[in-house]
Amino acid sequence: MLKLQKVCKNFGGLTATADVSFTVPQGEITALVGPNGSGKTTLFNLISGVYAPDRGEIHLDGRPIHGLKPHQVCHLGIGRTYQVVQPFAGMTVLENVMVGALYGRAGAKRNLGTARTQAFAVLERVGLVAAAAQSASSLTLSGKKRLEVAKALATDPRLLLLDEVMAGLSPAGVDEMVAVVRGLHEQGLTIILVEHVLRAVMKLAQRTIVLHMGAVIAQGEPAVVMRDRRVVESYLGEEYASALHR
Ligand SMILES: Nc1ncnc2c1ncn2[C@@H]1O[C@H](COP(=O)(O)OP(=O)(O)OP(=O)(O)O)[C@@H](O)[C@H]1O
Ligand SMILES: [Mg+2]
Repeated sequence: MLKLQKVCKNFGGLTATADVSFTVPQGEITALVGPNGSGKTTLFNLISGVYAPDRGEIHLDGRPIHGLKPHQVCHLGIGRTYQVVQPFAGMTVLENVMVGALYGRAGAKRNLGTARTQAFAVLERVGLVAAAAQSASSLTLSGKKRLEVAKALATDPRLLLLDEVMAGLSPAGVDEMVAVVRGLHEQGLTIILVEHVLRAVMKLAQRTIVLHMGAVIAQGEPAVVMRDRRVVESYLGEEYASALHR
């Protein structure tokens, strides 16, 4: 469904993304993991059109999308959340989600009434219906993370990019979010999951791609990839990796 070919992005002298190539099959949950600063969010920004790559290509269903604007990528069916939650603080939870419904792929065909119906349906999928009339700023972190997912879902994506939607949640909150993501996958969404909560990755992902300093260092089945020496080293350092593999 999605194909990245030798995608590069530099910020000044810093290489944030170095020749990254991978494919994401339709219908799967692909996890994208790696230590802080390894380039995960940058990749989401490249896929969703926030940045254009310096080099390389990104294709959705065989069609080049690199260099398109965020709203164009959104209208082709890619939705994303932001690692740092960004609700419209002065609006209600429902209104926040209605923005997505009006702006997204089917937005032009919706009026306020149908956007409202769509927003309620989405809030149902993430377990936020009871908070619909609440101000977005009054939500707990767990609520705000769900609202991020809801805003993205309201744009009618086929491919959903989730950037650390479990970060900072309690173990129970993580379990609830795992259930939400599993539900979305069962309803047919293809998902790329950027996540530091590896317990959730192991539960959800069919495939894991590991980034280190902007480059892909391993990919494959989650349980196998997590034992890979280079992966352990990238997270915990060489000393620990050698002890583990001795
Ligand atoms: N707009 C920017 N300008 C300059 N440098 C940037 C910019 N965005 C990201 N970077 C740098 O690019 C590198 C990759 O950052 P990125 O946010 O993609 O990492 P990440 O894997 O998402 O990390 P984390 O797990 O902490 O969220 C980092 O060194 C970061 O400081
Ligand atoms: Mg990030």
